[in-house]
Amino acid sequence: MSDDVTLTIDDIQVTVPAGTTLLKAAEQAGIDNIPTICYHDYCTSNGLCRMCVVEVEGSRTLVPSCVGKVSAGMKVHTRTPRVERSRRTILEMLNSAVDLSDAPEIQEFMTEYAADRERLPGARPREHPVLDDNPMYVRDYSKCILCWRCVQVCAEDAQYTYAINFSGRGFQTQIDTFFQKPMLETTCVFCGQCVAVCPTGALKPKRQWLLEQGASIDEVMDMTRSERRRKKPRIEAGE
Ligand code: SF4
Ligand code: FES
Repeated sequence: MSDDVTLTIDDIQVTVPAGTTLLKAAEQAGIDNIPTICYHDYCTSNGLCRMCVVEVEGSRTLVPSCVGKVSAGMKVHTRTPRVERSRRTILEMLNSAVDLSDAPEIQEFMTEYAADRERLPGARPREHPVLDDNPMYVRDYSKCILCWRCVQVCAEDAQYTYAINFSGRGFQTQIDTFFQKPMLETTCVFCGQCVAVCPTGALKPKRQWLLEQGASIDEVMDMTRSERRRKKPRIEAGE
């Protein structure tokens, strides 16, 4: 077909429709080891984390494969020393600023790329109090890598609810509600999609979080039952 594009990825020739991303073209060529962090199959790609970079012959800079598109005759390399160094540095920077203890996939990348956890000893980690303001989920932005997935599924990628966005700038940037309102005062419908796409445990079901804090099942149920159900008057037999 005239709209198809043929390129070479890691010496494998592959033909894909024009407009295909390098990540998807690589998958079609049977190369499924390009690491991604901010990318999600059901979210719009923004190329934020740069973990998925690849080397394209003739290109001065590395190209994020989740947003970079194929072109005819391209020669792409997914695992060169330069690519590996770049991915390792990204992991080291993330690790220096964010609590990644609840991000198993990123932990695996750290091992795979031999990231040095002590490489940036003077770095200031992002610290935020855990926000526990509703019965459904808690938010711990010390664990947030600003991948943007939760904002996107809350907006045009899925729910069209627009309960969350970002606030602050630069190092102070964080995911937030509008005017930093508690979640119950926002448009949030508690669909849970943001929690489902969060890759780092920054958003966590409240019941899971309470269990991790050592609460008993009864305490968990009591603390997460809605106010309405808790206050429902009992209807006695015969009434
Ligand atoms: S809270 Fe989770 S999904 Fe949202 S930006 Fe942070 S890491 Fe990504
Ligand atoms: S996965 Fe491609 S830039 Fe984050």
